[in-house]
Amino acid sequence: MNGMRKKITVPDLEQRCFQGPPISMLTCYDAAFASLLDECGVDALLVGDSLGMVLQGHNTTIPVTIEQMEYHTSSVARANPKSLIVADMPFASYHESPEQAFKNAAKLIAAGAQMVKLEGGEWLAPTVEFISRRGVPVCAHLGLTPQSVHDLGGYRVQGRDSESALKIERDAKALESAGARMLVLELVPADLAGAITQSLNIPTIGIGAGAATTGQVLVLHDMLGITPGKQPRFVKNFLANSGSVASAVKQYVAEVQARSFPSEEHSVLGLVSL
Ligand code: KIV
Repeated sequence: MNGMRKKITVPDLEQRCFQGPPISMLTCYDAAFASLLDECGVDALLVGDSLGMVLQGHNTTIPVTIEQMEYHTSSVARANPKSLIVADMPFASYHESPEQAFKNAAKLIAAGAQMVKLEGGEWLAPTVEFISRRGVPVCAHLGLTPQSVHDLGGYRVQGRDSESALKIERDAKALESAGARMLVLELVPADLAGAITQSLNIPTIGIGAGAATTGQVLVLHDMLGITPGKQPRFVKNFLANSGSVASAVKQYVAEVQARSFPSEEHSVLGLVSL
């Protein structure tokens, strides 16, 4: 598969808003998995700060540093995947000023990412504008934003009532206007994610956000069933009925493209009227 496809770019994924197929994204933290996921046709690899929980065993993503993100981004990039590489900006690496954010974004781009992701709403618009104007594509992240877990009071569904749903929608518009090229929507009701997707011209990537987004992302270790403990409702174990890791990943790509994942069983359903 890798030999046959060309490098996936940000504009390629933007086209998917209008032409499909849905975008498949998985987290990836090292070169071995980067090669495998690329071979299986995954469109985008997210070097997520979830590595703080998945690889390092922390309870939150908060302790992850920019140096650790650079290390894992360069490990993924060394596999030279055709998949787009998106790297998370860790907690406190973009909060002080647009200048601080650009300096740290540049480290991840130099390490081999093609896009950086940051968590937060309208307050980040000047930062998104500053970074994107300097040639760094930005992915925004709304809904459950794990770096704000203490502020949110836990890993909870966001946007359940109309006030908070409207705030997420306003944030999404503001970030798109500031130059964000993609938006992750985490743990929000499926109808809210669908309405936001319809109102934007940039791809939305859902996790626990229903099937009406432009694409889907899961944490790799969750979808392979190797994360210890009880899993959230939106996680599906793709390895359980596959003979190999590669088959599980190919099955994930196929189900995302067919919009059969996530089904209602793996979505948050909620009453939201915008
Ligand atoms: O860090 C991460 O893995 C993420 C995904 C949950 C979207 O941000």
